[in-house]
Amino acid sequence: MEQNVIISKDISSELAQVVASVRPDRLFVLTDETTLACCWPRVASVPCMAEAQMITIAPTDEAKTLDSLTHVWASLQDGGATRHSILINIGGGMVTDLGGFAASTFKRGMAYANVPTTLLSMVDASVGGKTGINFRGLKNEIGVFNTPHTVIIDTAFLRTLDAGNIRSGYAEMLKHGLISDEATLAELLLFDLDNVDYAAMADMVSRSVAVKDRIVTEDPHEHGIRKALNLGHTVGHAFESLAMSEGRTILHGYAVAYGLVPELYLAATRCGFPTERLHQVEAFVRENYGHFAFTCKHYDRLIELMRHDKKNTAGIINFTLLAAVGDIRINQSVSPDDIAEALDYYRES
Ligand code: GLY
Repeated sequence: MEQNVIISKDISSELAQVVASVRPDRLFVLTDETTLACCWPRVASVPCMAEAQMITIAPTDEAKTLDSLTHVWASLQDGGATRHSILINIGGGMVTDLGGFAASTFKRGMAYANVPTTLLSMVDASVGGKTGINFRGLKNEIGVFNTPHTVIIDTAFLRTLDAGNIRSGYAEMLKHGLISDEATLAELLLFDLDNVDYAAMADMVSRSVAVKDRIVTEDPHEHGIRKALNLGHTVGHAFESLAMSEGRTILHGYAVAYGLVPELYLAATRCGFPTERLHQVEAFVRENYGHFAFTCKHYDRLIELMRHDKKNTAGIINFTLLAAVGDIRINQSVSPDDIAEALDYYRES
């Protein structure tokens, strides 16, 4: 199904268009406690929201659970939701992923729309129809692909974000630049994340979303080119899981930023990715995200975590690599020894 991703100019009329197009019998809005306080007020006075039944869950990825999902399903049921209702998810990736899954499964599926409020969810999570929850310690273990009716990206919400969450989303933009073209990457590497120019950021978000939208439209179920979006994530997810298990949880985008460095090292050594670009990205990551600390004693654990990534088959560790900026090589199997070398490179960089 074609994505309908709108870069918002007037959220009131865009929401009205969604409602006019779906003509729901009932309208539900899902927020978490944070977006209820910080983001809902921007939307609450929109006339078509007057009839909205509110559902609120706890914030952060820790709430992306079966219990929260049960609460959403129960609220939909108690509120009389049918297959002709709509759920509008207002929040970060946790809310849009969980809300998308709740809507996709309630009575075998009702419409949903996403209004992402974090940079990470604008450029990545809310677009592309991946929905789900975490389960038994594994991220996004249960879920379905199901495209939202509409995604409305209103970059005014970015002003409610702290510096860490801006950086976290920005790592996905950096990834989109790397899989896209030299000019986009150069612009991203020059952007000053300490003094965010929100007007410039809005324009960059729009182009970043277009990169994802194009790829997802071509390969919605990740059989091929959508794997390009995994750049930085094979190592990044392993860093994220290791950090979580040691009680030093890091934001997703930070893990992706750290993961880009060893993965671009692999790209340089195996596919001829230019070392100058590797060094530029590495310097940007170091300056803006710092360093992820681990020792060679963690290597086996990290490699095991990479092996269990749900994008692998038969225990072979597959990476998305690049031969150049925008020159994507998917399904690159890499041996544990080569991964260890890339981890050495990251630690010594
Ligand atoms: N976050 C990567 C994807 O949507 O495929």
